[in-house]
Amino acid sequence: MKLVDRTKISAAALALVSLSALSAGFLEATPAFAKDTQQHPAVLNASAVAVADKYAADAAEQIFKEGGNAVDAAVAIAFSLAVTYPEAGNIGGGGFMTLYVNGKPYFLDYRERAPLAATRTMYQDEQGNVIPGKSLYGYDAVGVPGTVEGMWEAQKRFGKLSWKQVLQPAIEYARDGFVVGELLAKRREEASKEFDGKTNFDQYFGNMKMGETFKQPDLANVLTRIANQGAKDFYDGKTADLIAASMKGHGLITKRDLQEYKAVWRQPVEANWNGYEVITAPPPSSGGVGLVQLLKMKADLAPQFKDVPLNSPQYIHLIAEIEKRVFADRAQYLGDPDFYKVPVAQLTDDAYIAKRAAEVDPDKPSDTKSVQAGLGTSMPEKAETTHFSVVDKWGNAVSNTYTINGYFGSGVVVPGAGIVLNDEMDDFSAKPGVPNMFGVVGSDANAIAPKKRPLSSMSPTILTKDGKVSLVIGTPGGSRIFTSIFQVINNIYDFKMPLKDAVGAMRFHHQLLPPNTIFWEPYEPINGDLAKQVEAKGYVLKGQDFNGDIQAIRIDGDTPEAVADPRGRGVTRIVQ
Ligand code: DON
Repeated sequence: MKLVDRTKISAAALALVSLSALSAGFLEATPAFAKDTQQHPAVLNASAVAVADKYAADAAEQIFKEGGNAVDAAVAIAFSLAVTYPEAGNIGGGGFMTLYVNGKPYFLDYRERAPLAATRTMYQDEQGNVIPGKSLYGYDAVGVPGTVEGMWEAQKRFGKLSWKQVLQPAIEYARDGFVVGELLAKRREEASKEFDGKTNFDQYFGNMKMGETFKQPDLANVLTRIANQGAKDFYDGKTADLIAASMKGHGLITKRDLQEYKAVWRQPVEANWNGYEVITAPPPSSGGVGLVQLLKMKADLAPQFKDVPLNSPQYIHLIAEIEKRVFADRAQYLGDPDFYKVPVAQLTDDAYIAKRAAEVDPDKPSDTKSVQAGLGTSMPEKAETTHFSVVDKWGNAVSNTYTINGYFGSGVVVPGAGIVLNDEMDDFSAKPGVPNMFGVVGSDANAIAPKKRPLSSMSPTILTKDGKVSLVIGTPGGSRIFTSIFQVINNIYDFKMPLKDAVGAMRFHHQLLPPNTIFWEPYEPINGDLAKQVEAKGYVLKGQDFNGDIQAIRIDGDTPEAVADPRGRGVTRIVQ
């Protein structure tokens, strides 16, 4: 979507996984992690999911009933959504997975990478101007996809079931079809208009209609090969050949790009906040650092927030002041840590955040130009992504956000494979200071380079207390992602709202630029009293029809409660 305008393991199972992996010759290519073979007692009375559609929820339920854990369910969900939620679910994109397994936090980065032939100025014309749309539509916009490698890595390390079992639901949805719902049909129609015959999108999705069964036989064949051969098919097999062939004469991705793709296990960002351990996304996401800064800055400003009602004009002003500073840092310091040294420790340091909080003007918006990156030494994103949250009865959790960036990504579908390819290259800074689809700007930290990962805002997050999972949360929304998660966490913990109300409450967004602009949801009329009072404080309001699609699970004692955002077509499932 255009956000700018509209937005445990049995020996048998292990043998199966290893066999299929070895036969694929792929196990040697990835780091070897010992599987945890210990049987853990159940600590919750149910497993739970909050996911973007009912087909993925059904898939997760089936996996839990077959004895799978949260990671098995997450992988089954990811592949299912690639079929039934094609506007954002994907195998042609990438994402981040935050995990809490057997009492330990983990983070898996399977973000897309720039092709080997990418250059810093590839989206600029000879005069140095950014060419509109070039990083958003068609073959030029596509980054090297990471989802299949990510799912393979996660399931191989932590799954209980066989790889084939977790692929099965997706294969069935693709082969036998699924019934298309209203929202998907609407988004498909919008995408057809947006791509306007400039890509081959309509050849694959043009006849996808509400209420009708939609089958994807090419995609079913790809998923069956991935089930039989592992990730190797996608990166070095027949599917890799199909992707590379589709790019020839059109785009930059070659078979070597696919062969060299790697997902990376990274140290998550972790912070103590309000008695909880926040476990969230490190760079190349800006979201985890941003979320920690937001949470801690608000805590530092507790006296200013005292007795300020939720979503009152003063609340909106104070939160916008905080967001202004967070986005100034984002633009300057955040990028791929494999290419640029991101000062994560300094940016999340308590004394630094307290100093930034002290700069907040309680009365009026601070002058935008005066709000510079704070460590003393420029923002962006298109809009479709999907998040799912999973907990199992053994107390493990997966928080996963993955994306092809805009709805239906670049609009390019790999001929003979039915894979929708991403337009993640738009998340790079095409030129310093020039905003991307999400209106955010960037600097050198996020300049394009071969094999580099574009800066993301995706922030799959888990909160734990005393070593136990308390909240699993995330959302799509580009640069709105971590401000949305922040607001829901405030609603839950500061305003003590029930989870459903906390997720459903109105959200707003500010991101430094445009100056003093608050992005406003249709929940509250833009010409209503609240809006007028916010304008009177010196803000400009801008309507947006999308401010996230939160999927959250909260655990109270031994009982999980799951909520899907009323803004989307998400579904929850509690499985005893
Ligand atoms: O990685 C990012 O931050 C963006 N590509 C995510 C895009 C997104 O969330 C679109 N959702 N509405």
